[in-house]
Amino acid sequence: MGKISVTMVVNGDKVGPMEVSEYTSMLDFLHEYLNLTGTKLGCGIGVCRACEVVVERDDGSLEVVRSCINNVGRFIDKKVTTVEGHARRNADGEIEQLAPIQQAFLEHFSFQCGWCTPGFVNAAMVLIDRLKREPVAAEDLEATISEALQHHICRCTGYVRYFRAVKDVIESTPGLVKSEG
Ligand code: FES
Ligand code: FES
Repeated sequence: MGKISVTMVVNGDKVGPMEVSEYTSMLDFLHEYLNLTGTKLGCGIGVCRACEVVVERDDGSLEVVRSCINNVGRFIDKKVTTVEGHARRNADGEIEQLAPIQQAFLEHFSFQCGWCTPGFVNAAMVLIDRLKREPVAAEDLEATISEALQHHICRCTGYVRYFRAVKDVIESTPGLVKSEG
């Protein structure tokens, strides 16, 4: 089995170079090599989106990528953010303040078991990043949120509370929705 040398930035920290099997999934790399277990294995076949992580494109915009069906080699030299990377932390690594979308999911009781939540957090973060660059018209907001979250599977809740939380954060963040007129 071939080995590859992996370097990347995860949650702002430089990782590697590390020698790993070329067939190591990104999900296993996060769990087994970096001890970042917040990214969850759901279906393992690319359907549920529980395992999504955020990756920075070359132009600085963000995208979500499924870590279960993509090997670690796809992420070499990329900037990756997992669910552990959104909150503000102090020098000891303790969480000082959650990201607004994380706080909103708590306040809206959006999740129950929470297995799907990292995927929803990351998808919402990417959506918010996109709207900062390309604000959405108010009449298109609900469709835009639905489109961003539609592939995420949750076996506990009815999705409505996730939707409302994302909508609240977008509507209360200046500049994400086009002003009328
Ligand atoms: S665990 Fe990756 S898409 Fe379901
Ligand atoms: S909260 Fe349990 S799967 Fe979504």
